[in-house]
Amino acid sequence: MREKQRRLQLPERLRWDHNAWYRRWLLRQLPSEASSALDVGCGLGDLARSLGAREVTAIDASARMIERAASTSDEVRWIHGDVLTHDLGQYDVVTAEASLHHLPLREGLTRLAELTRPGGRLIVVGLYMTATWADRAMELVTLPANALVGLVKAVSGRSERPHDPEMLVVMTAPTLPEIRVAAREVLPGVRVRRRLFWRYSMVWHAPEVH
Ligand SMILES: C[S@@+](CC[C@H](N)C(=O)[O-])C[C@H]1O[C@@H](n2cnc3c(N)ncnc32)[C@H](O)[C@@H]1O
Repeated sequence: MREKQRRLQLPERLRWDHNAWYRRWLLRQLPSEASSALDVGCGLGDLARSLGAREVTAIDASARMIERAASTSDEVRWIHGDVLTHDLGQYDVVTAEASLHHLPLREGLTRLAELTRPGGRLIVVGLYMTATWADRAMELVTLPANALVGLVKAVSGRSERPHDPEMLVVMTAPTLPEIRVAAREVLPGVRVRRRLFWRYSMVWHAPEVH
């Protein structure tokens, strides 16, 4: 069984959304020619609404998330379902923001690869569990930066909720070495990068034939 992530929590008013922090980076990875996109574990749909492809589909296992997301836009095809089993097609772009750790790692990666059209792109921003010395060294930067950003947001009146109270949050995640090993096995040529704020990013260009 995976250990629960233990993390020094900031006071409520200084907490902020680490996933949204990487959204602009994620959007910059989108190929300009993408005509179809799938957002996996879309939650309230903030990312799905920004994807800008001609056809955007978003799936979440929570009926409540999909109900609330669907009330914000009818330009996205919102699906209530489990990404692992739901009948979905293939997409030019597949995104997963803070949702891969909700899935069994290899199964989740394999499924994301299946959903990515040959020649398409998979973009993940995910969470990893602090486990190694390198992770702890990164925390020497992350912890003060986390507090500083929270403080700046609070002082400038831009405080934000780290996540919606109705959103399913999982307090465990694979470690970064586990993620790297599995990703290289399942997604040849993948680029995995450690990021600040307990996040990593992953970009995979699906081969033309896979
Ligand atoms: C931490 S939230 C992230 C939501 C959103 N992507 C964001 O960044 O705000 C993870 C989401 O994944 C969804 N989820 C978990 N398991 C799933 C599955 N098997 N299929 C589809 N969605 C799933 C949860 O319901 C939850 O809304």
